[in-house]
Amino acid sequence: MSSTPTAAALPAWWSGTRGPGALRRRGRGNRARPSVVDECIGVAAALGNRYSIVRPLGRGGMATVYLADDLKHQRLVAVKVLHPELSVTLAANRFLREIRITAKLQHHHILTLIDSGEVDGFLYYVMPYVEGASLRERLSEEVCLPSREAVRIASGLASALDHAHARGVIHRDIKPENVLFNDGHPILADFGIALAVGSAADEHLTKSGFSVGTPAYMSPEQAAGIRELDGRSDVYSLACVLYEMLTGEPLFTGTTPGAVLARQLAGPLPSVKAVQPEIPASLDSALHRALAPRACDRFESAAALRLTLESIGQPTCHCGVRHQLPQCTSRPSWFRRMLGAHQ
Ligand SMILES: Nc1ncnc2c1ncn2[C@@H]1O[C@H](COP(=O)(O)OP(=O)(O)OP(=O)(O)O)[C@@H](O)[C@H]1O
Ligand SMILES: [Mg+2]
Repeated sequence: MSSTPTAAALPAWWSGTRGPGALRRRGRGNRARPSVVDECIGVAAALGNRYSIVRPLGRGGMATVYLADDLKHQRLVAVKVLHPELSVTLAANRFLREIRITAKLQHHHILTLIDSGEVDGFLYYVMPYVEGASLRERLSEEVCLPSREAVRIASGLASALDHAHARGVIHRDIKPENVLFNDGHPILADFGIALAVGSAADEHLTKSGFSVGTPAYMSPEQAAGIRELDGRSDVYSLACVLYEMLTGEPLFTGTTPGAVLARQLAGPLPSVKAVQPEIPASLDSALHRALAPRACDRFESAAALRLTLESIGQPTCHCGVRHQLPQCTSRPSWFRRMLGAHQ
């Protein structure tokens, strides 16, 4: 297999200089970045002895992910290569040391780390290749998910968080893009990466406004810039993802952590029942608890959230009959608003 991807193997979005994600930094953000095709060829040449690049899979704010052939083990893997302009500002040793923590996480809902390194200035790490769509892609197609499915996914992710939190690892960047599916089985990607990048970022980069995490899913304490987060911050972010799965809309939007924080603190939480009247009141109140602005008012752990979600997923009434959660049939509020404007 050739280690230089051909033009035909490149996806349509690859031709531009920007991918679907954007670097979340200000100040030096306008500097010209190397062409993505040059970057792809450079990566293929640098990693060629070990991994043969097949094609790019996606491009996020911090890195590009490639499908590659692991030549030693003869299997397909996903190689994530940090953007060169970010790599040069990171302390490589620190980054590689920090992401080793992720390699210790072994859980069926966590995407494991297979390998990592630095070669010719490219900082990379290798994960199993997950063939299915991400939750972001599913939400783009289906808008919202049936409540039973949303609760099933969220409780799987909560068990992943419970495993990681017990080992002192906080995710810090839970969002639909980081939830991948293998035959419908949800897997959380990028564990510990946000902290590794944050710790290895130099002072200049931090001062220029670079931030890790994604504003729309940050807990209020993370949006406020607190570095010492505990598991309840991830509980909040997971609840944001659950809210979006149920309603088809992100809970709070904003391009900066500060803008999101202002919305989080502005008033009472919107009720998911107001958007999806058919969901059980118990799910609405679980969401309210998980989304409490103060960490001390939330579920005390991801395990507690998982237990609650599991009891909602298969509620049994006193007569012993199991009631299934209803399917989500109504349209999301933005869609109803749009229809209203045209009626
Ligand atoms: N292990 C994997 N297997 C298959 N596809 C993957 C894998 N990891 C990532 N991808 C794809 O690559 C895309 C880019 O991933 P990446 O983690 O770089 O960005 P992101 O999560 O969208 O944003 P961010 O940079 O903020 O983390 C993802 O949206 C996903 O579609
Ligand atoms: Mg990701």
